[in-house]
Amino acid sequence: MTATAAPSISDLIARRKAGHSLEADFYTRPDIFQADLELIFGRHWIYVGVEPDVPEAGDVAVVDIGAASVLIVRDDDMRIRAFHNVCRHRGARLISTPKAVVGNLVCRYHAWTYSLDGKLIFADHMGEGFDPGCHGLKPVHLRSIAGLLFICLAEEPPKDIEALAEAMTPYLTLHDLPNTKIAKSVDLIERGNWKLTMENNRECYHCGANHPELTIPLFAYGFGFSPNTLDEGELEQAKRYEALVKDAHARWEAAGAPSREIEHLADRITGFRTERLPIDQSGQSQTMDTKVASKKLLGQINDPAMGGLSFWTQPNSWHHFMSDHIVTFSAIPLSPTETLVRTKWLVHKDAVEGVDYDLDNLTGVWEATNRQDADLVEITQAGVANPAYEPGPYSPYTEGLVEKFAEWYLARLAANLPEAVAA
Ligand code: FES
Ligand SMILES: [Fe+2]
Repeated sequence: MTATAAPSISDLIARRKAGHSLEADFYTRPDIFQADLELIFGRHWIYVGVEPDVPEAGDVAVVDIGAASVLIVRDDDMRIRAFHNVCRHRGARLISTPKAVVGNLVCRYHAWTYSLDGKLIFADHMGEGFDPGCHGLKPVHLRSIAGLLFICLAEEPPKDIEALAEAMTPYLTLHDLPNTKIAKSVDLIERGNWKLTMENNRECYHCGANHPELTIPLFAYGFGFSPNTLDEGELEQAKRYEALVKDAHARWEAAGAPSREIEHLADRITGFRTERLPIDQSGQSQTMDTKVASKKLLGQINDPAMGGLSFWTQPNSWHHFMSDHIVTFSAIPLSPTETLVRTKWLVHKDAVEGVDYDLDNLTGVWEATNRQDADLVEITQAGVANPAYEPGPYSPYTEGLVEKFAEWYLARLAANLPEAVAA
């Protein structure tokens, strides 16, 4: 048997069948994984955390993306900054723990010391000609969108983050994320390629059969359905849902809460989508009984039944904003077959655990859903690595957003491939 050369990335992109899952190479090949890190995660706005990750001056959060490590730092003026986690002397990693509280950033190798705004303020024995001004920490681009932190590792980040900020700020500020606290943060490693994690996030075709907890508050119809295959009862429910969305949007928007869908998943470099969706039963929150999990509502909200504002960004995040809490997810590739899914549950900063909220009740739906999704990603990774796998068709009714993810990914990869950059 003679081994055939693996197809090039541009050939794979060119021969992709629209409306179908990707070829196995995209989920398994180490060189494509490396291209994903450099060209997708290295050149786009990546969601990495929230302002409450660093609530006080001197708080530091570390985010690793491939070989890059980034410090998210709250400085003495309460401004949040991002720096490469690399000492400007001989390169030692400055902070090795996921979180830290510091006065200054001190390298433990030879004690070079940086203030919280990245300036080198102490370096012993460096002689007369040494200019500390040329050896400050290297900054990383950072944008807070109503408290959600995005970084870009590229020198020139995509400019259309401005359009995202403009569109999303009115939707998000209502929930006052900067005045929340992290009630719980969970790191889950899914045993699958990061694109399988994202594709799984972009559809609810699998929800009915796999998410008994999530489908209590969530209407699966919100993600599309085929009218031809529904029986009369189901069709009735789907219609009821459509009417419910229309009414809810009108009511929420009249109350000053933007709710209507905005969709730019595949037509922007910084792709995103949002919509405020009704919640079933009491209409309040993504909990097992659909009622608010925290008594202290967020921001100026006084109606607990605000549904759930969902916000999705390319390439790596999704979020649910409710009246009482926010659940926020970032996906970071670890290897061709492993992805970190970091979930944070945020409540009002004055909410007291055990008094205003019960942690298990707050996190129950999404802890269960995350475990179920991790399992689905794992079986899909195993399947796509099987030589018998071939790309299969997406449902035109329920997997339109998966197709938009694939379209966005392939277009961004193509635009950043070395041959495209050189051309
Ligand atoms: S490597 Fe940081 S002080 Fe020397
Ligand atoms: Fe799921």
